Amino acid sequence: MKVDVLLGLQWGDEGKGKIVDFLSPKYNVVARFQGGPNAGHTLEFDGIKHVLHQIPSGIFRPDIKNVIGNGVVLDPVIFKTEIEALDQYNTNVEANLFISKKTQLILPSHRLLDGAYEKAKGDKKIGSTLKGIGPTYQDKIARVGLRVGDILSDNFKEKYNKLKTKHVEILSYYDFEYDITEYEAQFFEAVEFLKKFKLVDSEYFINNELNANSSILAEGAQGSLLDVDFGSYPYVTSSNTMAAGACTGLGIAPNKIGEVFGIFKAYCTRVGSGPFPTELFDEVGERIQKEGHEFGATTGRPRRCGWIDLPALKYAIMLNGVTQLFMMKADVLNVFEEIKVCTHYKLEDNSITDELPHDLVDQKVEPIYKSFKGWNMSLESTTEYNQFPTELDEYIKFLEKELETPISIVSIGPDRTETILRKV
Ligand code: GDP
Ligand code: IMO
Ligand code: MG
Repeated sequence: MKVDVLLGLQWGDEGKGKIVDFLSPKYNVVARFQGGPNAGHTLEFDGIKHVLHQIPSGIFRPDIKNVIGNGVVLDPVIFKTEIEALDQYNTNVEANLFISKKTQLILPSHRLLDGAYEKAKGDKKIGSTLKGIGPTYQDKIARVGLRVGDILSDNFKEKYNKLKTKHVEILSYYDFEYDITEYEAQFFEAVEFLKKFKLVDSEYFINNELNANSSILAEGAQGSLLDVDFGSYPYVTSSNTMAAGACTGLGIAPNKIGEVFGIFKAYCTRVGSGPFPTELFDEVGERIQKEGHEFGATTGRPRRCGWIDLPALKYAIMLNGVTQLFMMKADVLNVFEEIKVCTHYKLEDNSITDELPHDLVDQKVEPIYKSFKGWNMSLESTTEYNQFPTELDEYIKFLEKELETPISIVSIGPDRTETILRKV
């Protein structure tokens, strides 16, 4: 068996949680390979909405093993809160969750550093979720980070104090007030809580599962345009959100990757700062935000909205080797008489391209749009693809042709059941 990878092709929040939950009965294992509590993955079924941050979205299916891989950064305090929120459901989380001993730990002082760095950037701030993601990955790369396995060692407190002291010194150079006492107490309590779970060598775990013919789904967080190498740098997150990240974040060889599912919204959103070529500042953008309930699942911030961006999608499909596309939130466009698709960019020298320039911050691009007639009707009673209105069918076929990749799922609502399979 191979590992299938599911990832977002835009700036995050494409609906990954919903689709992982939908697909998970086909898999034995669901594994997160990067990111951390900056993620907010929403699942909806039986009239209840759940938001997961660090726990993989297979957790509600009783027979599925869920893995938090070495590429993830984990905040024990948020972890404890998330697990406690699951208590009232029949999830069997202690049996079904496996955490890599190599997962990096987010310390209370990492969160403070995130806040201090953002404040110092002023109006150039990244718009970070302030969960300590950047500073934790920074320490990983600097080879000074603490990992989940360290909590089992006798001198964990010593290691913690050494790193914290370093952080406190850095913080002294910043105009940033803080009181770490309460969060630190919660941190140590949560570290004890974490010890109750299965802390494993997840690279062996995953490869043993593969050898035993288990099917594995790797669940991406964030989106390709937030990737630290290929995203809209420097307005990105600090991990590789791409398919390649599944290899390094789980310990899977590249030749073990099977399908790559690329998921995107029928339009486009972004939360936080940074370039967004097709962003709409008018009532159409506001309407998309309202219809799509576009507010961050982690921070509650309003998401910026705009039309779909094909140059950006083509780029993400190329980099990830996407084999199937899933289009989300088609229903949000139900109310529009006209729908636009950005097919190319016009650059400052007036040339036209469908490629992304290396920099989108100083290099301004003007989107060139193709207009489509909207379907302008509810999709509520739709249960099969052949019931789709002609205009929606045309929209999908156009995207598929331009993106040269089949669209095999169309999502028309947040619930598990509002998912339409399409034969391709
Ligand atoms: P993720 O981070 O990629 O898992 O996505 P989020 O959960 O942050 O954001 C997606 C939002 O859209 C959530 O509120 C979902 O419940 C919702 N959603 C997912 N699919 C659909 C859909 O097809 N239609 C509508 N209207 N909402 C959807
Ligand atoms: P999911 O998995 C949308 C954005 C932040 C900010 C930038 C850097 O739910 O799709 P960070 O806290 O990572 O240092 O923030 O990245 N961001 C996300 N945007 N969805 C996410 O995750 C995100 N995770 C981070 O808003 O602009
Ligand atoms: Mg999200």
